[in-house]
Parts: sequence; structure tokens; C-alpha cells
Amino acid sequence: MIKLKIAKHVADNTDAHALFFVKKAVQFSSVLTENGEVQAANVLEEIEKGICEDLEIVEIDGHKTIFVNAAKERGLSSLDHLRMAGYRLGKRAAQKQFKTVKLLLADAADEQVKAIFHGLYYSAYKFNKYKTKPAKDFTVTFDIEADVRAKDFERIAAEVAVEQHYTSLAKDLVNTVGSDLYPEAFAHIAIREAHKVSGVAISILNPRILAKEGFNGLLTVGAGSRFEPCMVKLTYSPKNAPKDKHLAIVGKGITFDTGGISLKPAKGMKEMQSDMSGAAAALAAICAAAELKLPLKISAYLCLAENRIGSGAVLPGDIFKAKNGKTVMVDNTDAEGRLVLSDGICAAAENGATHIVDLATLTGAMVRALGPAITGYFTNDEELSQKIKAAGDATCEKFWQMPLEDEYANELVDHYADLSNIGKSAGAILAALFLREFVPEGIKWSHWDIAGTAYVEHPWKYTTYGATGIGVQSLIELSRELGDKA
Ligand code: BES
Ligand code: ZN
Ligand code: ZN
Repeated sequence: MIKLKIAKHVADNTDAHALFFVKKAVQFSSVLTENGEVQAANVLEEIEKGICEDLEIVEIDGHKTIFVNAAKERGLSSLDHLRMAGYRLGKRAAQKQFKTVKLLLADAADEQVKAIFHGLYYSAYKFNKYKTKPAKDFTVTFDIEADVRAKDFERIAAEVAVEQHYTSLAKDLVNTVGSDLYPEAFAHIAIREAHKVSGVAISILNPRILAKEGFNGLLTVGAGSRFEPCMVKLTYSPKNAPKDKHLAIVGKGITFDTGGISLKPAKGMKEMQSDMSGAAAALAAICAAAELKLPLKISAYLCLAENRIGSGAVLPGDIFKAKNGKTVMVDNTDAEGRLVLSDGICAAAENGATHIVDLATLTGAMVRALGPAITGYFTNDEELSQKIKAAGDATCEKFWQMPLEDEYANELVDHYADLSNIGKSAGAILAALFLREFVPEGIKWSHWDIAGTAYVEHPWKYTTYGATGIGVQSLIELSRELGDKA
């Protein structure tokens, strides 16, 4: 665990100090003695020459000082460098069993402080649900010297604590194995979480209601599983929200994707426990927005089903009628995400959403195109596009806009049904074009394909293995921006 303690001044009796540097320059602190400055300059010289390493601990001015490189990785923004620096510092302090570490951040800008705090929290994420003997938890308290900015830092620390709490919630859900987190289990966790924060209302649409209301995407995909599909609806509607805006977040919640009758190959299939990452992010983001009291009406639609082989499973070639009346031929049962999302998008539109953002681990094509570092997004609105980019920049989640290329739209026309669920050419674009068929005219919509970014099997940034929590923080930031009166 980590704790952040903010004070105007921090006494010098902590177990260690930490000092951030970029190249040969110490960042954010000028309180070293003249002698200390010389000593620090020598250490930085040695690090640059490769004689000693980043995270080296050296006695400066009589204090153990951890030197943290805040410009180490390639390709990251300066804010993300600070997140990474915080992350590595957090790991190092815990490894050295330092109970208290002093940080001098009085000269840092708000967003820099926020980035460091995020990094520190990331370093402490653990998922011990399945370990019988988890490593003993060690708590590091970071004593932050803030001088006149103590109030601001307190506010930032409180914000980061909420954002990280919900990022971890999303990660925990994704890291929970497929047989434990089936649709109903997910819905129960959603109920528990909604009840924990004030202002979030929740309702569950069970298969009977889904059938009555024509949500046949979920029913079609869920038909092969002994676990029934459901849709979870959450709403947060604060009084001080602008009247003309309503953000709906739609999450793909395939609790496991075997591919169905169009079965996936064995290799890598276990990663498909992460096929509910979109729904996890949607749940986490709306609860976080409520806890942060953001002034924006938000609703969330978690489209929960298990895509599995069974005697009732949908067959390739089957045709069903989607919620908006269009008929869909299921050419490939592994292209199931778009089917459940069609229900979520229709529900969001019916409930008066002005903006819809859907998140989905939707296509292998996106994994190959952009890899683990970048989320590809599609949108029908340029202003929303700018806001998404800005939200991503602020939270160090990279976004790249992809085209809704009309030239390929004909590939989705079936011989006998209105639509086919797959096309022939560009996989990620076709999936987005399919979703567009369910977005009514006039609604600003964006689709985030997080297939590459939601889950990693090799260490990446602040995730050693598994769920990254992608999307949660961008959604919170986007909600902040949409709620802004300006
Ligand atoms: N859940 C998968 C996409 C995916 C792949 C997510 C890799 C994360 C990592 C999705 O349901 C799927 O199987 N998509 C197919 C669609 C195809 C049949 C048109 C794909 O991308 O191969
Ligand atoms: Zn699939
Ligand atoms: Zn899937």
C-alpha cells in the first residue's frame, strides 16, 4: 500500500528522500545545501555516464536520497515520464522497506503532481484473489512537502485516490477469471458498487425483459452459455449538470469469449477473460464520476454475456432482429461484441443520450494495427474527437483516430438479412461501421477499440501482467470536459 501525506513542511527524519531528475537537472526542489548540490550533480554525472543507475540511493546532505529519472522511457509525454518515475519510485521504496519517503514538490505544477501521485498508486496495485500465501503487504508513506500549495495538493491527492480506486476496481474485474465473473456475478458487483456511492441508480435487465424489449443481440450471443446474459443500466444525474448534455457509456461485457461455434484457437484463448474490459471501465468511470461529483448527467450500459459453445448456441448463418429493427446475419459467431453493443447503443439512444462512447475489446485487427500503447477510436463528431484526444493526453492514455470509411460499408450488406456481422477487408473499421448502424442521426458517438490496450501479457508501463485499467481515467476526464460550462 502507499499513503500520501501532505504538509507545508516535512521534517527531515523520514527513512529516505526522493529526488526527480531530467538529464543532469534536479526537478522541483532547490532546498539542497550548497554541498548537497555538488554531491547531487556528481551523482547525476555518474548516472549519465552509466557508472551508477537510475533509482540509485546516495547519501546527500545526510539523507538517503533516491534518484529517480523522470525522462527514462522512449516515446512518452513528459507527464507520463512523471507517472513512470512515480511508479518506479514506489516500487523501489517498497523493495527497500522505507516506511517514509520525503518528496519536495512545492515547485511542481498541478498536473505534474497529479502524474506523480498516479504513478505512486500504480506501483502498489496487487491482485491477490487467487494466492493462498500473498506476499506481506508493506505500506510506504510519501510525505509531500507542498509549502504554500498544501491545499491544492490535498485536492489533487483526493482526486487521484478516487481515480486510482476505480482504476483498480476495473483491473480487479478484468483479472478475475472467466468462470468466476459470469454475467450475473458481474451484475452483482455493479449493484454493490452503485450502492457504495451516492447518486448512482442501477437496474438490471434480465433475459425475460431483454426478450420483451427486443434486445436480441445479448440474447443471441448468450444463448450457448448456461450463464444468462443481462444488461446493467446505471445512471448518475446531478442537479448542477448542464441540461443539454447526457453522456452514455456503453461497455462490451463478454465475460469470456470462446468464439462460440466459430471457435477460437487454443493459443491465447485464456486472454479472452478480458473481453469485458469495456464494461469494467464503464462501471468504474460512472461510479468515479459520481464520487467526484462531476457536473454531468451520465448513464452506463453494461452488455454482459458469455460467448460459449452449447446446444443452444447461435449458428453461423442464423439471422436475428436487432433492437432497432434491422436484421443481422451472424456469419461468424466470434464477432459477438458488436452484437451485444448494438443493444447497449440502442438503449443509450432511447434514454436520450446526446453523446455515446462505447468501449470494447472488439477486434484482433486493432491489436495488430496499434498494439498495447494506443487505443484506436472512431467518431462521427470532430468536436468530440478533440475532447477525447485532450482527455487522453491529460491521463497519459494514447488515442489515435481511425476512419469510418464508407467505401467498405457495402461489405456489411447480407444477401437476405439487412446486415452481416462481418465483412471482408478492414477488420477494425468494419466493426465500427457495423456499430454505426445503430447510432441514430444527431447523436455524437465514439467507439473505442481497446482490444490491444486493455490487457497485456508482457510488462507495459505500469502494468506487470494482465489488466491495465485502460479507459477509466480518460472517461473520467472526458466527463470533466463535457461537464465544463464553457
Ligand atoms: N474479443 C475479440 C477481439 C479481441 C482479440 C480482443 C484479441 C482482444 C484481443 C472479438 O470478439 C473477436 O473475436 N473478433 C474477431 C472478429 C472477426 C471474427 C471478424 C477478430 O478480431 O478476429
Ligand atoms: Zn469474439
Ligand atoms: Zn469478443
